[in-house]
Amino acid sequence: MAQKIVAGNWKMNLSLSEGVKLVNGIESKIDSTDVRIIVFTPSLFAHPISQLNKKDTEVGVQNFNENEAGAFTGEISINQVKSVGVNIGLIGHSERRLYFNESHSVLKAKVDAAIGNGFEFIFCCGEPLDVREANQEFSYVKRQLDESLFHLTDAQIKGGTIAYEPVWAIGTGKTATTEQAEEMHKAIRTWIVEHYSEEIAETVSILYGGSCNPKNAEELFACPNVDGGLIGGASLNPEDFCAIINSF
Ligand code: 13P
Repeated sequence: MAQKIVAGNWKMNLSLSEGVKLVNGIESKIDSTDVRIIVFTPSLFAHPISQLNKKDTEVGVQNFNENEAGAFTGEISINQVKSVGVNIGLIGHSERRLYFNESHSVLKAKVDAAIGNGFEFIFCCGEPLDVREANQEFSYVKRQLDESLFHLTDAQIKGGTIAYEPVWAIGTGKTATTEQAEEMHKAIRTWIVEHYSEEIAETVSILYGGSCNPKNAEELFACPNVDGGLIGGASLNPEDFCAIINSF
């Protein structure tokens, strides 16, 4: 069975003290522990937040560079992230694709760097509004996966995590309906079966992201192919984030 995960993506929000307060608040409000909880903090905060040593909340980074080391001013390598005890990161968030021009090939290099360094990742995909309006969302998302992820071997993809985040639902308050989410999640699972096997497809967690909140989380998480969520705005306060986690 795919692992159930609820992850928060803080994006470029919160000060360190606000982040500490948030994580302390999360820990005090959680009642379900069979859900894996991760907070993706700004890289600078990953170490101090992980040092809080919370039993239920793991820490990850929102981005990392695909190169081992060297003259890449302002970037951070996997080994640097790992050296502070943080072992998971996001790859290919739509904001990275859009504002930082991260291409299919750059994302593939990040996937390979992560695999090569034993670094866990959540691979993000999702179509923009014009693509959905043109009814091209399935081919668009399939291409994102084909180009950057599905070159992995059975052993490499097994137990991995994909987040489907339709760009038109991110930060807009416009959530995908349960039908829209389930339909895409089911398609993603089917592509994994086609590339790999049924057995492997069942081990991959497929998370939904995009205006997920305490009101809609329960019905989204009840979809058979939705294994959890990647939460932006609603992960920034402990009440909403914990309500989402507890809705499992
Ligand atoms: P919102 O939940 O704010 O729509 O953001 C989703 C997201 O981008 C998580 O990575």
